Amino acid sequence: MRKKLFINGEWCEAERYKDLFSPFTGEKIAEIPEASDGQVKEAIEAAYRNREVMRSLTAFERADILENLVKLLEESKQKIAELISLEAAKPMKYSRAETERTIETYKFAAEEAKQLCGEMIPMNAAQNGANKIGYTLREPVGVVAAITPFNFPLNLVAHKVGPAIAAGNTIVLKPASQTPLSSYFLAELLDKAGLPKGCLNIVTGSGKIVGDQLVNSEKVNMITFTGSPEVGKRINAQAGLKKVALELGSNAGLIIDKNTDIEKIVPKCVVGSFSNQGQVCISLQRIYVHEELYDQFIAKFKAEAEKLVLGNPLDEETDVSCLISKNDLDRAVSWVKEAASAGSKVIAGGEVEGNILLPTIITNADRDLKVSCQEVFAPIVIVNTIKTVEEGIQEVNASRYGLQAGIYTKDIQTALQASKSLETGGVMINDIPTFRVDQMPYGGVKDSGNAREGLKFAIEEMTEIKLIVWNEEDAS
Ligand code: SIN
Repeated sequence: MRKKLFINGEWCEAERYKDLFSPFTGEKIAEIPEASDGQVKEAIEAAYRNREVMRSLTAFERADILENLVKLLEESKQKIAELISLEAAKPMKYSRAETERTIETYKFAAEEAKQLCGEMIPMNAAQNGANKIGYTLREPVGVVAAITPFNFPLNLVAHKVGPAIAAGNTIVLKPASQTPLSSYFLAELLDKAGLPKGCLNIVTGSGKIVGDQLVNSEKVNMITFTGSPEVGKRINAQAGLKKVALELGSNAGLIIDKNTDIEKIVPKCVVGSFSNQGQVCISLQRIYVHEELYDQFIAKFKAEAEKLVLGNPLDEETDVSCLISKNDLDRAVSWVKEAASAGSKVIAGGEVEGNILLPTIITNADRDLKVSCQEVFAPIVIVNTIKTVEEGIQEVNASRYGLQAGIYTKDIQTALQASKSLETGGVMINDIPTFRVDQMPYGGVKDSGNAREGLKFAIEEMTEIKLIVWNEEDAS
């Protein structure tokens, strides 16, 4: 299956192609075009030329395109879930869930397109503002360059493409090199949905050729990036005065207070830690359990984790499959070894079966171990004991990251205190930090990022405020 670049509404051959392999079987699944310098430039030019086309669509027309896309996605659910599982090694049950979420994301985008508006400004609240009428408009930024990760190849693209269209922007998309197939399929659907030609462009290829040009181009008005803090910071440093929205990593933490019903919460903790092999920015990576419940939690958590079915991502029963690459597997295994040799206990997993890292639980892990302080992006979770919730808060906060955190407690004062003290973009009370629905504001502080996604919030990032002031006095 040889794919083509999507530039200015046309499918274009490339000079060079790169083989794409299934992360699970290692079989070749496609040939992916490597855009040349000139082709990236053409894609940016197409997005730039068509800014006016997109900007002049009415809210009704933008919503209509997104609603058409929703219908087309609904007709292709099975194919899409299989594509995600094939390219990302995401187990089918999670690929299906991602497909459903994507549909919802575009539905929210269509709704938000119709809600986009500015606000009245009370001009006469200032002494010099008498006889003035002021209001703001929200105008599209122009060209949005979207650089997306492999772990939710359809829905994290939707979180950039959906709000960009809703706001009236044009797009150049660089999908993750391992997972471009679902993005190319999306382009086919958006074309059928009525998106004007040139308003979405997709270019695959090397970070040097594609990524750098997107970040450096004067014709790109905004970069929206999901990925590692290292790359995010580099983009930010290079981007000049462009808007830059960064969704970066985390090592999400959960605090379990002494009054928690362990039987009830363990199944959720298992899903939070191991779904998509832990390759989720809000994957549950650090659990801090009150000492009174620690033994009970560990016994149940380990028993449930060991029931997970390992296997081919395309099998319906599979819970856990392989990581995205052999390098990531090797890295994850070396981090487990580092923890073990530093005195932590690996009480489950730690071994590799075929190319799958078993769901791994590590206890007694110091803060400075990589499995604790770095983003593991693998099916690895640490579980430590705490004497008080305050201690748990300190542990969660002792991190370079701050995306989402969770706390289970029946005490309302404790919950309130935690919601104030946890240094994260979101705090989930009586839930795991892995909770997300797609309209909520999603994003982090510290090294986890500088912006919010979730349709309404991403649209705010992708628009400029324009102020209009009418002077009533000098009108005649
Ligand atoms: C992410 O990995 O940042 C996305 C998580 C999600 O959408 O559930």
